[in-house]
Amino acid sequence: MSEVVLPQGFSLEPLHRNHQRRLFDCGQREVNDWLHTKALQHQDKRLSATKVLLNRDIAIAGFYTLATGQVDFGDLPSELARKLPRRALPVAILAWLGVSVTCQGQKLGDLLLAKALRDCYEAGQTFAFVAVILDCVDDRAKAFYRRWDFAELPGNPYRLFLSSQTLRAMMTSPAR
Ligand SMILES: CC(C)(COP(=O)(O)OP(=O)(O)OC[C@H]1O[C@@H](n2cnc3c(N)ncnc32)[C@H](O)[C@@H]1OP(=O)(O)O)[C@@H](O)C(=O)NCCC(=O)NCCS
Repeated sequence: MSEVVLPQGFSLEPLHRNHQRRLFDCGQREVNDWLHTKALQHQDKRLSATKVLLNRDIAIAGFYTLATGQVDFGDLPSELARKLPRRALPVAILAWLGVSVTCQGQKLGDLLLAKALRDCYEAGQTFAFVAVILDCVDDRAKAFYRRWDFAELPGNPYRLFLSSQTLRAMMTSPAR
């Protein structure tokens, strides 16, 4: 995947307290609540890291949150788990992603997802993980992620994964 280029006038920054996070509305209450009330606290405690996409007016057009975690060996599909040790395994977590309702339909969701996966890939050069995991808030979100190469974890239809091999292939191939 080639380098993700932001639209003119937009910037991507780590969330900080001067960002107008309480004005953000992506139409999904759970996602809004996360950014309004929890994202900064969790970032301050080093539990997760959030980046915000700012438009020309310095309003938040979108954001994503990444974290690290573990999944049990038995939670992974057998083709991925086959060569892995039978224990808790490290994963990157795409915890949250949202685009402001006023900016939806302009490919910013895809852009943020591409940036989030690029961050995971680059972090994975230093802190290895076996997959990127995410939990979908609803069927609409799931349909959005399934357009990329995310697949369902067995027995958990709203938890999707992307293996580190697939991530590497995605990031090192020029297409997309
Ligand atoms: C899901 C969301 C991030 C998409 O953002 P967006 O900026 O509108 O999406 P984009 O403009 O980048 O869309 C890119 C493509 O995805 C498609 N798409 C967008 N939302 C989709 C959905 N819910 N289901 C299926 N496809 C979707 C678009 O049609 C477009 O396809 P195309 O390239 O074939 O035209 C946004 O609707 C959102 O913030 N929703 C509420 C929060 C949420 O559900 N977050 C995810 C879980 S944490």
